[in-house]
Order: sequence, then structure tokens, then C-alpha cells
Amino acid sequence: MKCEVKNGIYWTGAIDWNMRDFHGYDTPKGTSYNAYLIVDEKIALVDTVKGGFSDEMFRGIGELADPAKIDYVIVNHLEKDHSGSLEEVMSRAPNAKIYCSPRAKAGLADKYGDRWPINVVKTGDTLKLGKKTLRFTEVPMVHWPDSMVTYVEEDRVLLSNDAFGQHIATSQRFEDQVRANVIYDARAYYANILMPLSSIIAETLKKLPALNISPEIIAPSHGLIWRKDPGRIVSAYLDWSQFKARSEVVIAYSTMWGLTDMMAKLIAYGVMDEGVDVRLYDLHESSLAAVMTDLLEARAVVVGSSTQNNIMLHRTAEFMAYLKGLRPKNKIGAAFGAYGWAGGAVKEIDDGFRALGLETVEPLAFRHIMTTLSEQDQKQCIEFGRNIARKVRGG
Ligand code: FEO
Repeated sequence: MKCEVKNGIYWTGAIDWNMRDFHGYDTPKGTSYNAYLIVDEKIALVDTVKGGFSDEMFRGIGELADPAKIDYVIVNHLEKDHSGSLEEVMSRAPNAKIYCSPRAKAGLADKYGDRWPINVVKTGDTLKLGKKTLRFTEVPMVHWPDSMVTYVEEDRVLLSNDAFGQHIATSQRFEDQVRANVIYDARAYYANILMPLSSIIAETLKKLPALNISPEIIAPSHGLIWRKDPGRIVSAYLDWSQFKARSEVVIAYSTMWGLTDMMAKLIAYGVMDEGVDVRLYDLHESSLAAVMTDLLEARAVVVGSSTQNNIMLHRTAEFMAYLKGLRPKNKIGAAFGAYGWAGGAVKEIDDGFRALGLETVEPLAFRHIMTTLSEQDQKQCIEFGRNIARKVRGG
């Protein structure tokens, strides 16, 4: 199954249809590990695939060239999903030389010693393959300190490694060939992996024009290749990395006996009543990754929990820990919940928002023992939602 990306640049990766958890992030659609073989006077392999998937990669390479004839192996990033087959590649391509960033070289030395010839490259360095020139750009922390991207100058193809990827397994290789909403999958990937690196990503994106990188095709190392209007995903990354928010509210909560659930739905009613979009998630029934995907573009995050043993229910605690790691910015945080004998959960949530530096609103907590929300309480919940919506709209 040959797949030419453009003029002698081929996809030779592997599809992982059954991947459901990528280092703690739900990936219900699977993923792919994209390696690229560039065939010119010299042959270069850009990235490899996760360990256990090398047969598929070598099948693809074998349709194009004898693996023993590979001259260069470009290691854009050390993480195991891209370097897991490196050892096998180097044994089947004994004359190949590795090109990588200084930090990648240090990582390779830690694991493999000095078994292979390694040429360290920095931003702006090039490698001539014949008619084609590879130009390297270090992009530290997109996704690890060692990360870099490889640009094929003559073809304007950017092999972007983790940047611009999506966790989606498909039989097609190009974004314009599938019916899926690939921007949504790219948003899920960004929200759950790259969000905490946003300030670095924003700075990196600003540098691309000065580096004369103007891709016609962006070929990441996960998911589909951006061939039709790749500016769309660059523009989305610009928005996400600057936390540009839509007029939307995400409500996420967990409930013990249903009162916090009632509060959540009344708050949602108040938000909707002000004409603002809302998404509501019972955390016991929902994927944290799906919540975070919506949260990336929402202006407000409203989190609720009943109190148990003076603290949040465990699912809300899990959500708050996940949120803490992803470090969102430019959000309004609002806490709510019902409790019986003693509170605690709502303050914990509010403290969590403050620790993240989010703008907060006065939390809403009700104490009820064996009763339900009074008419007055219900009105307060609706007003709480309305107030959040007005803030979201900037009122
Ligand atoms: Fe796809 Fe950072 O590995």
C-alpha cells in the first residue's frame, strides 16, 4: 500500500487501531505512528514507529527500497511511539547515520551508548539528499525538550512530528479523504497533550515565517496529513495556544444522591437562558479527555461535587488533578455542590481554580439533609448560571 505524500516522500508508518489510552489520555479512535521515507539520490527515513509495529513500517519501506540502503535516519523526537523501532531500523540499515537534536543525542547515548554514528543538528542546519534538501528546526517542548521538525524545502512539506497530530486510526492518510471531523480530533490531541505547553507553542508558531517555513503539506507523526489548506490547522494552533475562548461554558460534576446533579442542570438552564452555549458532563459517565476537548475553547469551567468525608467525590478530584496538569488559562472558574453534614468539596474546587490562577466567581454550596432544593435554591442556581453566562459574554 504505497502512499506518496508528494514527489518521492512516502508515508511508511503503522496504524494502531486498538490504542485506547495514550499515556493516560482516552483515545477511542486509536492512532497511527507516521514514519516517512524520502527517496532521492540518498534515502532518508524520518522517524520510526512504536515498538511492536515495525513489521508494518518495514512492509511499507520494502515496497520502495531495500532497508539496507537507507542512508539517514532522522530522529525528530525520542518518545517511544516514534523511536521504539529505532534499534531494529539501525540493525537493518547498518550504514545509516542518525540526525537529531543535541538533547536527542544525549537521550540516545543514555539508552544505547555510542553504537551508532550520530550527526547533531541545530535550527537552520540542512541535509542534502540529491534534489531535495531537509532543513531542521528545533521545537523544544513540542512535545519534549529534544523535539525538532524536518522541512523538505523544495516540496514545502513539513514533517512536524507531534505538532498538528491527532489520535485517529483511519484507512486513508490525508485529512481531505475522510468524513471525520479531524479538527475536533486535533483539538482533543492539543487539549489533552499540548495544552500545558501553550506559551512555548505560541512562541514557536510566531517564529515559523522568519524561518521561511511555509508548508503546502503538514505531515505529522500521528493521524492524518494536512494537504488541503494546512493553514487551517496552523490557525487553530494559534488560537488554542493563546487560549482564545468562545462564548461557551463547560459544566462538569459528580453527585452522590442527585442534588449536585440537580444544581448542575439548573445552572446549565441559567447559562442557556442568557443565550450562551453550554456542555454538561456527569464525570462518572464521561471521559475526562472529552471534557477537556470542549474546555479548551470554553470561556468558563463550572465544576461541582457533593462532599464525602469532607472532600470532593473521587471523580471530581480526578478531574481537578487532570486540569491542574493541563494548566488552562483565560478561563472563569466556578465551583458548586450540595453537602449533608459538613461541606468541603466546593472550597476544594474553588481553591483548585485559584491555584491555577483562573478568574473565579463566588461559589455556590447548599446544605441539605434528607431534603431537596427549595424553590429559592433553584432560583439561586439559575441565577448562578446566568451570572456566569453574563461574565462569559463580557457583561
Ligand atoms: Fe508522539 Fe511525544 O510522542
